[in-house]
Amino acid sequence: MAPAAAYAASGASIRGRSLRAMPRPGLIRIRAGVLVLVCRGLAQFGVLPMSVLTSSRRPFGNTGLEVSPLGFGGAPIGLLETGEETVSALLNGLLDRGVNLFDTATMYRGSQDMIGTAIGNRRDEYVIVTKCGLASEGDNPARWTRAKITHDIDHALKQLQTSHIDVMLLHSCSRDVIDRGEAMDAIIRAREAGKVRFAGYSGDNETAAYAATLPDIRVLQISVNFCDQMNIDSVLPVAREHGVGVMAKRPIANAAWKPTEEQYEGYRNYYAPYRERFETMDLSLEELAGTGETNWAGLALRFTLSHPEVSTAIIGSTNPRHIEANVEAAARGPLDDEAVQLIRGAFTAARAGRDWPGLT
Ligand SMILES: NC(=O)c1ccc[n+]([C@@H]2O[C@H](COP(=O)([O-])OP(=O)(O)OC[C@H]3O[C@@H](n4cnc5c(N)ncnc54)[C@H](OP(=O)(O)O)[C@@H]3O)[C@@H](O)[C@H]2O)c1
Repeated sequence: MAPAAAYAASGASIRGRSLRAMPRPGLIRIRAGVLVLVCRGLAQFGVLPMSVLTSSRRPFGNTGLEVSPLGFGGAPIGLLETGEETVSALLNGLLDRGVNLFDTATMYRGSQDMIGTAIGNRRDEYVIVTKCGLASEGDNPARWTRAKITHDIDHALKQLQTSHIDVMLLHSCSRDVIDRGEAMDAIIRAREAGKVRFAGYSGDNETAAYAATLPDIRVLQISVNFCDQMNIDSVLPVAREHGVGVMAKRPIANAAWKPTEEQYEGYRNYYAPYRERFETMDLSLEELAGTGETNWAGLALRFTLSHPEVSTAIIGSTNPRHIEANVEAAARGPLDDEAVQLIRGAFTAARAGRDWPGLT
């Protein structure tokens, strides 16, 4: 389920989220500033190069673009209404660290606007990916008309303060919507007008595998993480065959290892299926000690990045300490084959007799 739909389904309003679980705005602002200073300090002392992720860029399918293994997922800054100054510090800090892909969507509330305001003046340093349509109404034809998609594209250009969008994704529409052609046609017209460089599809399972075979689809955004492995076998090979760039969404399984009471209130229903899978898989950090990872976030990210078809893993976070830890984990690169096979085996064993599709 898409985040907003999941949040809505959870019955918890975003504004009404648990304040106990949320960092205080003043605190996060200070932390964000500290992130940049700490990174600069470490770079100065040669601990980690400032732009540590610049050298590990991956081809973005056959688009000709190269993207950092860690990208930024723009859902939480919009849906959790993060403050502008915090977003500015986070996004500028990420650019300084070599992260060059930012993902957002029409439906992530103020996310496009915040990204445009924060880093629109550095537009030539990053790839911007956004989404049109309304994921939570994937089958409602009224949401996928030429006029609606064209409106979303023009609106995104304005909010993102840019003359062009690098990738415009159809946001979780059904195969019927793709085949009707109207929504896709609107993106193609925008591409011909120079407003969009590449078209793509965001979604999972059979529809994503089908989308990857279409000549106009150059990028996919699919769920790939240690608790969500179905797309690894059913979609990644098709993407590879067709030279389609892959963005891994939900790449650390929404922090499935966190107990429910530690999750943002509005995330609880959304992450619950991953939490259940995580518990059923019954993995332990001890049995994966050979990876050198001492926490789940690093392990989860590096598992996702162990699949060479994945160009970038777009983690959503508003916590500067987490963001810096993710940069460092991405810089450590893929896991070794033994660890990947252990995690794959745990998923296969745990899902026996269960329906564990890729979750949108
Ligand atoms: N196209 C779609 O339908 C769709 C659906 C879902 C997601 N997406 C895209 O994918 C992005 C990522 O997905 P997501 O945000 O749902 O899931 P995710 O990136 O797998 O997980 C995000 C969660 O992990 C936590 N986290 C991040 N780094 C951490 C660390 N180092 N240690 C501990 N916790 C950490 C975050 O909390 P903190 O804020 O506390 O760090 C947040 O609760 C979204 O932002 C969006 O851009 C797209």
